[in-house]
Amino acid sequence: MRDFLARLPKVELHLHIEGSLEPELMLALAERNGVTLPYASVEEVHGAYDFSDLQSFLDLYYQGMSVLQTARDFHDLAMAYFRRAHAEGVVHVEMHFDPQAHLVRGIDLAVVMEGLSLARREADRELGLSTALIMAFLRDRDAEEAMWVLEQAAPYWEMLDAVGLDSAEQGNPPEKFVEVFERARRLGIPRVAHAGEEGPAAYILGALDRLDVCRIDHGVRCLEDPSLVARLRDEQTVLTVCPLSNVRLRMVERLEDHPLPRLLDEGLNVTLNSDDPAYFGGGMVDNFLACHRAFGWDEAVFRRLAGNAIEAAFVDESRRDEWRRRLAEA
Ligand code: ADE
Ligand code: ZN
Repeated sequence: MRDFLARLPKVELHLHIEGSLEPELMLALAERNGVTLPYASVEEVHGAYDFSDLQSFLDLYYQGMSVLQTARDFHDLAMAYFRRAHAEGVVHVEMHFDPQAHLVRGIDLAVVMEGLSLARREADRELGLSTALIMAFLRDRDAEEAMWVLEQAAPYWEMLDAVGLDSAEQGNPPEKFVEVFERARRLGIPRVAHAGEEGPAAYILGALDRLDVCRIDHGVRCLEDPSLVARLRDEQTVLTVCPLSNVRLRMVERLEDHPLPRLLDEGLNVTLNSDDPAYFGGGMVDNFLACHRAFGWDEAVFRRLAGNAIEAAFVDESRRDEWRRRLAEA
């Protein structure tokens, strides 16, 4: 099964590039930039990754990214992930990034964009790995700041495949960001949002109706509202589900308890993703393999899931056709 899963052409639709920062690189960048971290070794970093909920993870996630200071750092971070992803048969990565988490530390958007852009070109040229860029707004900060960031990003609007919405979900409903998402819509930028990860099914509905998103990141709590499930099925809205993330953030106790099989039984358009692979115990193959072990899924299920992601990617049709061919041959 591992060989099959590695062969499968996998498209990753939900990945936070800052969440791909492995402890080794974190410590190396801390040294390079003279940043003090509360960890002295890789083991100590791993030891700290015992999360009780989304917020307890976010606290370490924002602390970890403090080592990212220069365009070179962002380049090195992204290239390290692209190489790992490529080595495990990922053909395309759609990466969220969190500009506000860097702006508040005094790191300009230009620095982030320069580093990520360089890495994206290098990945395409050297690995044949295509990438898409999703600029996420932090929902636990105010909407005015999000609007300011969108305006600041004017020189880069053309490079954005979508805007997204992430960070602490509870108490920060999609409705808070109606104006900024409306501005993105008028600019012609597609929209996605995290919803129904830790927050209620009503946030999924809000993201669809008020933010006009084309896909829902996570969305696992949709099952609490049968009429919402029917709508997601009818509209075949893509859900970017992240199994190992949901276990590590205690959305479920064990993967065996995860609603993924029910989401599939309901006929929903599910995809599998890694979210923050450096923090949650693995990349795409690890997530797929964990589902095989927990649910006993066979090759046909994984073909369907990989196919869903191929159809949903922000990519030109010639690439999509090539991946469809590779999927048929896997
Ligand atoms: N930012 C990075 N990972 C996240 C997650 N799983 N949920 C919300 N915001 C995030
Ligand atoms: Zn996420």
